[in-house]
Amino acid sequence: MIRLDDLMAMRERDSMDMLGALHGLPEQCARAWELGQAAALPKADRVDGVVVTGLGGSAIGGDLLRTYAAAVASVPVAVNRDYVLPRHVGPHTLVFAVSYSGNTEETLSAYREAREKGAPVVAITTGGRLGALAGEDGVPLIVVPAGLAPRAATGYLFLPMLSLLSRLGLIAPVEEEVAEMVAVLTELRSRLEPGVPAPENPAKTLAWELLGNVPVVWGASGTTEVVAQRWKGQFNENAKIAAYWNAFPELNHNEIVGFEHPRQVLDHLYLVILRDPDDHPRVKKRMAITADLVRHRVSGLKEIEAAGRSRLARMYSLIYIGDYTSVYLAFLYGVDPGPVRVIDYLKQAMAD
Ligand code: F6R
Repeated sequence: MIRLDDLMAMRERDSMDMLGALHGLPEQCARAWELGQAAALPKADRVDGVVVTGLGGSAIGGDLLRTYAAAVASVPVAVNRDYVLPRHVGPHTLVFAVSYSGNTEETLSAYREAREKGAPVVAITTGGRLGALAGEDGVPLIVVPAGLAPRAATGYLFLPMLSLLSRLGLIAPVEEEVAEMVAVLTELRSRLEPGVPAPENPAKTLAWELLGNVPVVWGASGTTEVVAQRWKGQFNENAKIAAYWNAFPELNHNEIVGFEHPRQVLDHLYLVILRDPDDHPRVKKRMAITADLVRHRVSGLKEIEAAGRSRLARMYSLIYIGDYTSVYLAFLYGVDPGPVRVIDYLKQAMAD
């Protein structure tokens, strides 16, 4: 175990500088927005729908876009995590092909299909095969800075798409929201950073509480659902632990019944409920009733409130807390948060 007040030990165990990447998130978001504003627009006389195709850390930005857009966009946004695209994709579907490395085979396959179907495509990548293909095809290409783990590049893999949607008139201007989000993240950073000791640092405190437990993260449809999914992925990839997520109100119709057995497992579950002021009033009531129902059946339960005024700021404030928590938890397990050897192995084994 690495103690969370031992800055040197944390740095030594952090071979990919995940802490540095977390520190840079507010600046990354500001830069990512500018990249979107400066990007070439795809040629499309009409856009009836948007599909983001990508995997893992490159897909979650699509989920953020989908969630954000659902309440405000004039067209549907879908996320595709597959080799093939949904059948409805055609010349009026804007397709974002997103792969941080540019070499993810599922995304390359979906990119090719989008081109064959005549869909306007925008590629977002650091380069790789996707960058080369987009260059050859004359497809608008947003090149984002390399050197991060894809999951640490969530600003780069989300905000350029948001910017393009706004520039295409599919959502209202969002500049002010982006500025507020950067300000909220900057303020939050001063409370989450490694230099802030455990009792005052909410991410360190939560990491300690999660140690030895399996996090189950619950969000709510339309607000924090995607953030719950992000927390789960970050616990998996950074801390290398099992973790699960679900969303209200759906979980009230199945998952909630499963808190009776097996006792040995329930004793090691830790529930995190993510809350947003925009959660549906009935969902807020459900959260309160559900928390009372399960609190004594699990090892722990904590509710975490989003910070900030705008939807963007609130989504990202929760993401930031989860990201820091997962990296601190990695250190508590004595684990290097950066490398994801199992994913690398799988990609290699598939290529062989
Ligand atoms: C690694 C990570 C992975 C990758 C995924 C797809 O940090 O988060 O989930 O994002 O394997 O790879 P890319 O993003 O390069 O297309």
